[in-house]
Amino acid sequence: MPAELSPIDKAKFAAARRAVDFVEDGMRVGLGTGSTAAWMVRCLGELVREEGLKITGVPTSSRTADLARQVGITVVGLDEAKWLDLTIDGADEFDPGLNLIKGGGGALLQEKIVATASDQMIVISDAAKEVAQLGAFPLPVEVVPFGWQTTRALIEETLVSMDVLGRNTTLRLNGTQPFVTDEGNYIVDLHLNRIGNPRQLALVLNQIPGVVENGLFIDIADIVIIGHGDGRVELRDINEGKVSHDKIDFMENDNLFSDLGD
Ligand code: 5RP
Repeated sequence: MPAELSPIDKAKFAAARRAVDFVEDGMRVGLGTGSTAAWMVRCLGELVREEGLKITGVPTSSRTADLARQVGITVVGLDEAKWLDLTIDGADEFDPGLNLIKGGGGALLQEKIVATASDQMIVISDAAKEVAQLGAFPLPVEVVPFGWQTTRALIEETLVSMDVLGRNTTLRLNGTQPFVTDEGNYIVDLHLNRIGNPRQLALVLNQIPGVVENGLFIDIADIVIIGHGDGRVELRDINEGKVSHDKIDFMENDNLFSDLGD
């Protein structure tokens, strides 16, 4: 492993490497988006190329689709795959009940659709994303561009009656222009600091006209794999109530880094 890889990247890699152990021949696999998920896609690609693993990948963004093809994974759309055995994806925050905030990378809509259409969702993360209560990370809400300022005003009005600590909202930008999602929508980030009732907030936000989806993933994830910079991984199965520990040997995976870089 190159010396320049940061401890956080090593942690993300460790979680990703452990997660691909769950992937079996013939599976239809949802491929998440973000830097942690990118490690997972690279690990899967290596298994496909080196060990003949046969899988079909359903990417959650154009970025992930490009990477998956680049590393040799067969890619299809969700409508072709219909239902998935497993989705592996990163998260921006997760709480003790394995509820998540996602969408830091702007792919929350496809990510939620794909994860919901899967028998199982595995979250891969470094330890810094574990929180007692969700909300320090700004909650992404995808909105249609038409009338987005009105939608944002309605969101702010709705937040007044919600159990949250902050109510500031910002339109996500790409330079000076609005960030545009793969579906051609905008993202409004909600700076809530603490979300008292994530389930209620997720339901209420999705009732607002103009809101397409929000980044709260409630009761969707089944397993979280938490990676550490020294290769240790902790696996928590929320349904079984089981915790197990493992260690990833970085040296065994050295070729992955030299082959592909970042
Ligand atoms: C993208 C996501 C990502 O999973 C989330 O932002 C985590 O990203 P990273 O692994 O780069 O920290 O939800 O929409």
